[in-house]
Amino acid sequence: MILQSIFGPDGRRYSERPAAWVPPTERGRELALRYGLARFADAWAPRTWEASLGVLDLLDAGAPPSAASCAAPPRMRALDLGAWSWRYVGGLAAWIERAYPGREVELTGVELLGNRWLAGFTRPRGLAAHFARALEGRSPVAARYLTGDLRSQPASAAELVTWFFPFTHESVARAWGLSAAEAARTAETLVQGWSLLRPGGCFVMANQGGEEWETAAAALEAAGAKLLSERALEGSLHPAPYTIRLSAWTREASGAPTSSASSKMSPR
Ligand SMILES: C[S@@+](CC[C@H](N)C(=O)[O-])C[C@H]1O[C@@H](n2cnc3c(N)ncnc32)[C@H](O)[C@@H]1O
Repeated sequence: MILQSIFGPDGRRYSERPAAWVPPTERGRELALRYGLARFADAWAPRTWEASLGVLDLLDAGAPPSAASCAAPPRMRALDLGAWSWRYVGGLAAWIERAYPGREVELTGVELLGNRWLAGFTRPRGLAAHFARALEGRSPVAARYLTGDLRSQPASAAELVTWFFPFTHESVARAWGLSAAEAARTAETLVQGWSLLRPGGCFVMANQGGEEWETAAAALEAAGAKLLSERALEGSLHPAPYTIRLSAWTREASGAPTSSASSKMSPR
């Protein structure tokens, strides 16, 4: 309460030193060129370049063409669940621009722990606001960030829902700082995230390692999600140490979530 009264709800205002950073790998340079990332050179520090390129690499390699073939009206909503500090939002927006050309996209990041205090009296929500602002004037994607439970979003809220690394194991969720009650229902939370998808839309999920992928996929399948594509990505620009599984799912018109999913998940 004291920190909030000193610094305000977003914590101390976050800023970083932008750099015209040249990605050290050929793949990074190729992505930066193809997605026109030079426009962010006066906004991103090297750390932000890395985070954005990491997510962009996964999406570029693993998600199309499925995402492009999902429902995509001229004005569409996108949700990025569990967005944390959203350092990667520029990479996500750059991919959305190309996967959904000509669409007016409103992208909302949703994060349960956006109010958590971080080093330097910052908060995830303050960092996320900074990274969302960096899109203004540089990307047609309009980004905003909500601190709160994804359950507060209306069902069928968006044509595109992304979730990078949803929790699948209770112990990992606890270690991140989720309450015991919240950590015990990772399966239910994942399925609720998927149910925010409009029928015909696209749910894109990244998981770390085969075990997390199998657990998450089983929960989604049990809930009625339809798998469109799945790829195992090794040696990507994303810093996650495991093979990353990038999958795209859709929800058919009759694809209301069922409750059997939760039995498929287990504490680690
Ligand atoms: C492993 S982290 C991934 C963070 C980020 N997407 C990334 O790739 O760096 C999973 C995130 O999901 C968030 N989360 C878990 N349950 C949630 C819920 N019910 N509503 C919103 N966010 C939630 C957690 O707080 C956490 O920040």
